[in-house]
Amino acid sequence: MTAWATTTLALYGVGGAALAASLFKLRQRVELSQAKHRSIAGHSRMARRLAALVPFYEYDEPRFFCSDGAPANVAQCRRNGFERLSALHKTRFAKTIRRTEQAADSISDLQFTGAYRVPFQYSRYARKHLPSGAFMQSSAGVTVTDLDGNRFYDLTGSYGVNVLGYDFYKGAIERGAARVRELGPVLGPYHPLILENVEFLKEISGLDEVSFHMSGTEAVMQAVRLARYHTRRSHLVRFCGAYHGWWGDVQPGIGNPVPAHETYTLKDMSADTLRVLRTRRDIACVLVNPLQALHPNASAPSDSSLLDSGRHAHFDKDAYAAWLRELRAVCTERNIVLIFDEVFVGFRLARGGAKEYFGAGADLVTYGKTLGGGLPIGVVCGRRELMKRFRDDRPADVCFARGTFNSHPYVMAAMNEFLHHLQSPTGQALYRDLDRIWNERAQRLNERLHAEDLPVEVANLSSIWTVCYTRPSRYNWMFQYYLRAEGLALSWVGTGRLIFSLNYTEADFEAVADRFIAAARAMQRDGWWWSHPDLTNKSIKRAILKEAIARRLFS
Ligand SMILES: Cc1ncc(COP(=O)(O)O)c(C=O)c1O
Repeated sequence: MTAWATTTLALYGVGGAALAASLFKLRQRVELSQAKHRSIAGHSRMARRLAALVPFYEYDEPRFFCSDGAPANVAQCRRNGFERLSALHKTRFAKTIRRTEQAADSISDLQFTGAYRVPFQYSRYARKHLPSGAFMQSSAGVTVTDLDGNRFYDLTGSYGVNVLGYDFYKGAIERGAARVRELGPVLGPYHPLILENVEFLKEISGLDEVSFHMSGTEAVMQAVRLARYHTRRSHLVRFCGAYHGWWGDVQPGIGNPVPAHETYTLKDMSADTLRVLRTRRDIACVLVNPLQALHPNASAPSDSSLLDSGRHAHFDKDAYAAWLRELRAVCTERNIVLIFDEVFVGFRLARGGAKEYFGAGADLVTYGKTLGGGLPIGVVCGRRELMKRFRDDRPADVCFARGTFNSHPYVMAAMNEFLHHLQSPTGQALYRDLDRIWNERAQRLNERLHAEDLPVEVANLSSIWTVCYTRPSRYNWMFQYYLRAEGLALSWVGTGRLIFSLNYTEADFEAVADRFIAAARAMQRDGWWWSHPDLTNKSIKRAILKEAIARRLFS
């Protein structure tokens, strides 16, 4: 063969290899695109870009009551109901609201939550006339009492922390503090009771080692960092809509000012996602928040985005369990670290967590919230080889993680009280029949709502509930105010998430159900659920899009 022919052949070879590599890359890109959920929550970058384009506009007073085209008599009916609620707020909650107004100027968190209780088009007017109190004076049983002495059934669950009832946590903090008082807030060295915590956590998680942190966010950061360190791969996979705290890499979309370049947001419960996990080589870990089983691929439901009745939730335990088992198998096959983020659901669904509840285990598990016995906490439990923070053969190549308040004696002591309670006969009995109890309660409430033709229903994952709306409406977010007026305390996300503590008795629950029905009746009576036969969730969305575009173009 001549030199020329050899060169030509070699060039063909290189060209062919380059083409094959390009085609492979192209296929991977296509597969990645297919594994993204088609909603905006599935496209983090686009969501951030679009969010930056949405202009502020709001409805003036007349339009506030008829933004759905309701006739004058319905708008008047709504206005009467609104004024009645407003008068009630200003008298019944006077002291609490006064304090809140004083604080709001200087506490930025309050300004944020205050502004995002309802869709922004209605927000300023609603805030002015239906101000919400941000203070409470006391708690007892399943109730909380505000500064004016109003007692509410607590459906906030303190962001999920309150699993056992506030009285339990008060006791855990007090008893725990007494046990570590002699050492006090000495940081660095441990109080001996940490040893028992570690043993309990290893037994509960079925994993080998434990690390302590100060919040759920930090526990997640550490779990992901460890997965990257040990796999030497860059990317984490999270599922569309899932919340894992506010660290940038797990919050790649709206809310994070910079793009997260090493995060893939993929479809939950999808074969397309499994295909990506099987073929890509840059994936270090998959993060699962089992709470998504209630609303796969959708973000945490908040009333601030309740512009129509499109909120949907339904928990199918068998389907989600089968999905987790498939995920487990693919992660094992590909050496991808599977992380269950049980910061929210841990100790609420089952003593042994998602592993026991769904029948699939993780390599690393994060806990937080209730595990602190009422104090701030984040915990990672994991397989020994993944928890290690240094390499025997590369002493300078470490995986760093610290935190001044890690393993704080007072937190460890309150945690110890919590873990001891789980071991006790009462603690063991807690989870018996839990799902049956909460499913029956949800079903009973739904039957009552349907019987009265009220356009509301609830969906639940055990004691975590969300309110859904069955008729197209632009005003479902008003329901939160009717519920509060009936003495039900909701967190700032409103009806999107109701969290019950497990000490709710049947009588407590019936009282909540009665108030829930009374609130829905009042809302119906005041005309907020009036609906034109042509109104659909789609037409509502279209109308809002038109408003936003018009505002952007012409203002
Ligand atoms: C699943 C999950 N992970 C992480 C976090 C963050 O925990 P923290 O608020 O303690 O930082 C949360 C908080 O709600 C959560 O629900």
